[in-house]
Amino acid sequence: MRVLGVETSCDETGVAVYDSDTGLLAHLLYSQVKVHAEYGGVVPELASRDHVRKILPLIRQVLKDSGCGFADIGGIAYTAGPGLVGALMVGASVARAMAYAWNVPAIGVHHMEGHLLAPMLEANPPAFPFLALLVSGGHTQLVEVKGVGQYRILGESLDDAAGEAFDKTAKMLDLDYPGGPEVAKLAERGNSERFRFPRPMTDRPGLDFSFSGLKTFTLNTIAEHRQADGMPDDQTMADIACAFQDAVVDTLVIKCRRAIEQTGLHTLVIAGGVSANKLLRQRLETDMARRGAKVFYARHEFCTDNGAMIAYAGCQRMLAGQGDDLAIRAVPRWPMDTLAPVL
Ligand code: KG4
Ligand code: ZN
Repeated sequence: MRVLGVETSCDETGVAVYDSDTGLLAHLLYSQVKVHAEYGGVVPELASRDHVRKILPLIRQVLKDSGCGFADIGGIAYTAGPGLVGALMVGASVARAMAYAWNVPAIGVHHMEGHLLAPMLEANPPAFPFLALLVSGGHTQLVEVKGVGQYRILGESLDDAAGEAFDKTAKMLDLDYPGGPEVAKLAERGNSERFRFPRPMTDRPGLDFSFSGLKTFTLNTIAEHRQADGMPDDQTMADIACAFQDAVVDTLVIKCRRAIEQTGLHTLVIAGGVSANKLLRQRLETDMARRGAKVFYARHEFCTDNGAMIAYAGCQRMLAGQGDDLAIRAVPRWPMDTLAPVL
């Protein structure tokens, strides 16, 4: 079965064609980073308008790249949530309308399920069951995964998501949006011995996270080292980025370690934008290897938002006979543990 995937939940328009026999045939991504950069974050209305501009040319091109005519497409998967409602509506209405015109099924996919399954697109995919650490701009969750759609949330952030904390820290350090990769780059020049930031909620049992206090700690450290121009010197900024990244990564590693011990699982999947972070990958790999567990993640471009993960997730559900009615679905808030299992 060949499935066209459409992702428009935030600031990237992603499209892809996935074939259940041969794998990914083509994928394209248009990032709106430049549109939002001057505002220091995503402006929802501008995001929706840019999706409208880009979605049809991208779909036309991805069909061409995959060598598919519309008669070759057996179904359309689109991100139905969670995300920005206007942005979601663009992908949902285009996908649903095309499916109606082509007389094929359409399915609304959960964005975080897409992230969670993205490592399945790699040559050496993880086997169920596994523990998943989902770390994106909007979510930080530890999930026990028994199969597609069989999710038990073990812990999650009580306030900011890990990616959001990176983005806010970048803003405080006067770095560009999106901040995660910028903070990581600056941290490479930092001295990890100079500051030690707290590891929130690691001193008590449980698998929940909290990153907003870390943000305040960062702000206070910047204020303490402010110079005449209002910012700390370059080296201090790098040292702060380094201490911040260390604290987030350490906190995530500690919680993954706990979850692996608690569940007895031997496979850890990391997914979502922050799973592209090099230090996080390295530290988790070292720590998990010590416990006889293996870490899986997607290639860099499939860690952040993309259409391939949506095509893949939708395809799994369609192969199991699932599909939606004619409604156009856009669900800004949608708990992942309410999804139907694929048995
Ligand atoms: O999954 P994603 O593309 O979008 C959401 O679903 O939110 O994640 C985007 C988030 C942003 O907060 C971005 O700063 C962060 O992932 N990110 C990173 C890195 N690359 C992206 N954070 C830390 N290190 C990175 N290398
Ligand atoms: Zn995402």
